[in-house]
Amino acid sequence: VQHGVSRGPMAEVTDDLSTVPTPDLHAIAVFIASQANSTHHESATTAAQSPETGAQIYEATCAMCHDGSGELPFGGIDLTLSTAVDSPTPRNLINVTLQGLAPPAGQAGPIMPGFNGAITDSLLAAMLVYLRTRYSARPPWNNISGEIRVARRDLKRESASRS
Ligand code: HEC
Repeated sequence: VQHGVSRGPMAEVTDDLSTVPTPDLHAIAVFIASQANSTHHESATTAAQSPETGAQIYEATCAMCHDGSGELPFGGIDLTLSTAVDSPTPRNLINVTLQGLAPPAGQAGPIMPGFNGAITDSLLAAMLVYLRTRYSARPPWNNISGEIRVARRDLKRESASRS
């Protein structure tokens, strides 16, 4: 966020964007991920685990917001700076990726679409491997697919208890 810059007409636009309701964010995630998925053939299961696949998923679904050049509400930090990629387990990274971030109702704040329902387990796993390799000096995570399964199950429970 820049300070000391006069709030011109763009300020109104970004204020509006920051209050888009969650269902629209989901549509954004589905759209972004469909762009990424379309560059892949899900039948190539083993290829899906390759670092190139992970890099492509990151480039197509995350980089436009996380290259460190954007501004809030959509500009995310360079993931080198994120503690999520340095953690002993991938759990936080999985949760943020699946759930996204939304500001409290009616308030401005960072916005990230959640990719649950928009990205497959194998593509998500490939992306996690890539992010860990590229943005952290720590050793590879174990049991990525198990962690993804648990995170998805918890999300399902949460949404079931909400409705
Ligand atoms: C529409 C823009 C947008 C997209 C697309 C997006 N993010 Fe984000 N993300 C944000 C914003 C804004 C934040 C909050 C500011 C921050 O912490 O970077 C955030 C936060 C995060 C964080 C927490 C960073 C920290 O430690 O504070 C992680 C991790 C993350 N995003 C990962 C991802 C991954 C992985 C993808 C791709 C699957 C992705 N994001 C796609 C906008 C986006």
